[in-house]
Amino acid sequence: MNLIVVSNRVSRGKVNEPMTGGLAAALLPVVEKSGAIWVGSSGRVRDGSQKEPFAEIEALGTGALATLDLPAAHYGGYYEGFANSALWPALHSRTDLIRVSPDDYASYREVNAFMARALLRFEKPDSVFWIQDYHFLALGAELRDLGVTQPIGFFLHTPWPARGIIGCVPHHRELVEAMLAYDLIGFQTEEDCENFLACVRLDLDLAVHDGVVISSHGKTRAAVFPIGIDPENFARQAAKAVTHPDVSRLRRSLNGEKLAIGVDRLDYSKGLVNRVKAFDRMWTLQPSLVRTVSLLQIATPSRGTIEAYGKLQSEVAGLVSDVNGRHGEADWTPIRYLNKGYSQAVLAGLYRTAQVGVVTPLQDGMNLVAKEYVAAQNAADPGVLVLSKFAGAANELDAALLVNPHDIDGMARTIATALSMPLTERRMRWEATMAKLRGGTIRRWFADFVDALQDSRFDKTEIATMVTEPSSRWPHRSANFGARVS
Ligand code: F6P
Repeated sequence: MNLIVVSNRVSRGKVNEPMTGGLAAALLPVVEKSGAIWVGSSGRVRDGSQKEPFAEIEALGTGALATLDLPAAHYGGYYEGFANSALWPALHSRTDLIRVSPDDYASYREVNAFMARALLRFEKPDSVFWIQDYHFLALGAELRDLGVTQPIGFFLHTPWPARGIIGCVPHHRELVEAMLAYDLIGFQTEEDCENFLACVRLDLDLAVHDGVVISSHGKTRAAVFPIGIDPENFARQAAKAVTHPDVSRLRRSLNGEKLAIGVDRLDYSKGLVNRVKAFDRMWTLQPSLVRTVSLLQIATPSRGTIEAYGKLQSEVAGLVSDVNGRHGEADWTPIRYLNKGYSQAVLAGLYRTAQVGVVTPLQDGMNLVAKEYVAAQNAADPGVLVLSKFAGAANELDAALLVNPHDIDGMARTIATALSMPLTERRMRWEATMAKLRGGTIRRWFADFVDALQDSRFDKTEIATMVTEPSSRWPHRSANFGARVS
């Protein structure tokens, strides 16, 4: 098998360099060892007149990393536009933040088609394509249009919301229909998978049997593959990191005070405003916690050119400054707020230093910070994870303290409970959570998906013998005036 993995963001993975984005960081160690070719954006653009689309092809572990300069004319409409101002808000149930122009969709499809053409360079008879995430919902369909017959799988790292919500995205039907060109579609949770299949059933009027959809593309299986981490490796990194200068300086600065930690991209899905409000409330309700616990919030800037992100940056910064102004002292800062990224090697040590990990997104596909926080703990004296019930990770990590991120008082009380939890309970909860992490590692996720993908491509002649019920509904008329976006 010749595996080709595709994602918008890729990682070169120097353990000492900051990494943005859970997907790229999670994939790196497994892709490196798999011998796969990992294809993604170089982060730069070009005018498209060059024959060679690849900016660079370099060795990565036993495989290779190939990056493309995406077409300049379409990059904005694709990345800031359709992917991150239409799909991302909808996938995270923030339809109020959808901003989209007709050109954005055309650019999104252009970039998907451009990537498909570029991938042909690596195509071999035994190729297996694995496409990652919402940037490339239509890439499988573009590959099929180019005559690719090998297995093509897709994994969605974000949630897939209820049908009425995804229905707010222009062209959503066309996109769901295009997704059926994939042989296997993986989701983080049962709920995401069911929501997707409900769209297929009700919007496309197609039958679904045991997670399998039959369409004009053939057969598509939808299934759940919760992504994991390498907990043993992370634990080793964390134990080593306590001597890292950044980590030991933090430890010294605490003077015996307790620490809570949050690590997120600065994104409205992460619930940062409510988290800061919960700490504010906690210090107000329990003044004894003033000067005895502080919050280290790392919020790595992301997608700053999009209006919603600019606004969020100002809102969180304003709120943090207000809380620090009210609860702070000349020699004590309640919230240490940092807008930069850290390497995994340092993050592991920061997690281990904190008695509480606060992972309270309003919506999240999985959230690997939750898993990393747990893996980084000292088994003899572990910290406590406070986890939003709306993160995919909550399905597995039910021994964490689960919270509703919209309930500020509830979160304030739960964080205080975590801070005072006795050692025996902390150990019990930590062991139960670690057992889950060990049972669902990133290696297993990768292997399970690739195995299922190899099994999922079925004989095309089967389609002819499949009987699909004639629809009793009126056909849907697309509102794009029949134009093929090219
Ligand atoms: O949640 C899906 C995901 O791909 C994350 O892995 C990543 O944090 C984000 O979306 C993409 O972020 P960016 O736009 O910075 O690449």
